[in-house]
Order: sequence, then structure tokens, then C-alpha cells
Amino acid sequence: MRRRSSSFEPDKVFMRGRESINEVQQLQASIDGTTIHYVDSGDPAARPIVLIHGFPFSHEMWNPQIGILEKKLRVIAYDVRGHGKSDVGDGQYTLELFVDDLIGLLDHLKIEKAILCGLSMGGYIALRATERNPERWHALVLCDTSSQADSNEAKLRRAATIKTIKREGVKPFADTFLESAFAQTAKDAEPRLMMKKIIESNSPLGICGTLLALAGRTDTTAALKTINVPTLILVGELDKITPPVLSQRMHDAIKGSELHIIPHAGHLSNIENPADFNKYLLDFLLMS
Ligand code: MLT
Repeated sequence: MRRRSSSFEPDKVFMRGRESINEVQQLQASIDGTTIHYVDSGDPAARPIVLIHGFPFSHEMWNPQIGILEKKLRVIAYDVRGHGKSDVGDGQYTLELFVDDLIGLLDHLKIEKAILCGLSMGGYIALRATERNPERWHALVLCDTSSQADSNEAKLRRAATIKTIKREGVKPFADTFLESAFAQTAKDAEPRLMMKKIIESNSPLGICGTLLALAGRTDTTAALKTINVPTLILVGELDKITPPVLSQRMHDAIKGSELHIIPHAGHLSNIENPADFNKYLLDFLLMS
């Protein structure tokens, strides 16, 4: 496990590598009758990387990475069903359905094999997709995530959150969630305001449906030892939602995996410290 020191300026680096996200083409695919919104940038002939965002955000949480990755790779970042501009539908989701959507999107794009990178919920989806379809991945990047299913306490917390959102709407939930997701305390820091805006633009139905899907997901720990592609694990040193100990457990179980702790960062390590996050990510991608 290695640490990297950094000059930490989250406000300045949130958009690093890209002046405006409007440059990226916004696209839609119909996957099994559901519209999935995505961006597809970089060299179409280069190796593809698929970025899966965390709950309850959208593909825009990858803005600090997209502009940098697209210089070397084809970058696909999509909105998980119920998030961003993808369909919300009936709000009855499972993690299996999220994996179906991911595989459906790859089939739609005629991509046989990709590098898969997921943060938190994106990591849960990536781990289950790796268990189900190991032949589809060149490499795996697991950020601020865990292979463990929800404990009873976690399920009860999700049930309480659903109740609160139904009663009070998304706004109070967004504040509470960001309080635990960010290590930085300044509530008016630009990255935090950006993430708040993303959460608040998601619908209560999409958020509650996703909470049920997360509570019902399977535990993928037993499958970790079967992963045989290069795997990078990144975690914020101050991640309270999926703390570094959980990343260490995945690192111990996945043969040949690489683990780095991102300093000065909480659960959203790609946003709170993109300088170090991107350096580790690029180093890994150039080697694998
Ligand atoms: C996420 O960031 O995707 C969520 O915090 C995951 C979770 O609630 O388990």
C-alpha cells in the first residue's frame, strides 16, 4: 500500500482536463425498453473504459477523469437507471438489473471487452458484472467500494432513508449524505455544491428504488479470488462509507491487485483529490 503526497486544491481541480463538459457528445441507448443516457468520447479505436458512478449521482461525477482518460482511451460514462438523464421507469430496481443494463449498453455499442471502473455503487455493479461475465473485462478499477452485502443495520438505515425521502423530499437527504461522503467540511466548496446539484436533480423514485436495490444486492466476496484481470483498488483515506479496511480486504483476496490510499479524500476520492486519483489511475491503465 503506497501513499502519495499532494497539494490539495479540490476547487481548482474539479474540472481539470476539460474546460467544458458540453464538448462531450451526450447519447442515448434503448436497453430492453429503458433509455440509458451516456457519453462516449476519446478515440473510438482505442481500448474502451466504462465508468460507473456512485449512488445517488450521475456520470457527471467522472468529470475530473473524463478529460484526462479520453486522451488515451475510448471513455464511456453512463447514468445508471434512475439517475441523471436515464429513465427512472417504475422504480423497481435490483443490482442484477443494473448489471443487465451495463451488459446491454456494451452490446449496444458492440464492445466485446472493456476496462471496468466503478465507484461505490459503481463498484458493486462492477464486482457483480465481473462475477457474472468475467470474459467481458480487460481490467478492473474498484474505487471507494466493497464486496460485502449490506448488514442488517445498513438495511435498516436504507429503510429509514426511504421513509425520510418520502416525507421530506430529496434536499435534506442530499445534505446528510454529502456530510458523510465528503472529508472536507466546507459546505460551499465547488465540488460539494456540484454533487449536491446532481443529487437534487435525481427523482425521489429513482433514489428510493436504488436504495432498495443496494439493500438487496448479493455479497461478491467469495468471487474475489476468481478475478484474474489486473485490478486497481483506490480508496480515500477518510472514507467513512466504505472505509480503507474494506479495500484492504479486497486487495488481500484479489490476486496481484494494487491498492492505493488517496490522501485528503473521503468517499468521493476521485472528486476530493483528483490529482492523486488520476495519477494512480493513469499509471495503472498504462501498465495493464
Ligand atoms: C455510493 O456512493 O454509491 C453509496 O454510498 C453506496 C452505498 O450507499 O452503499
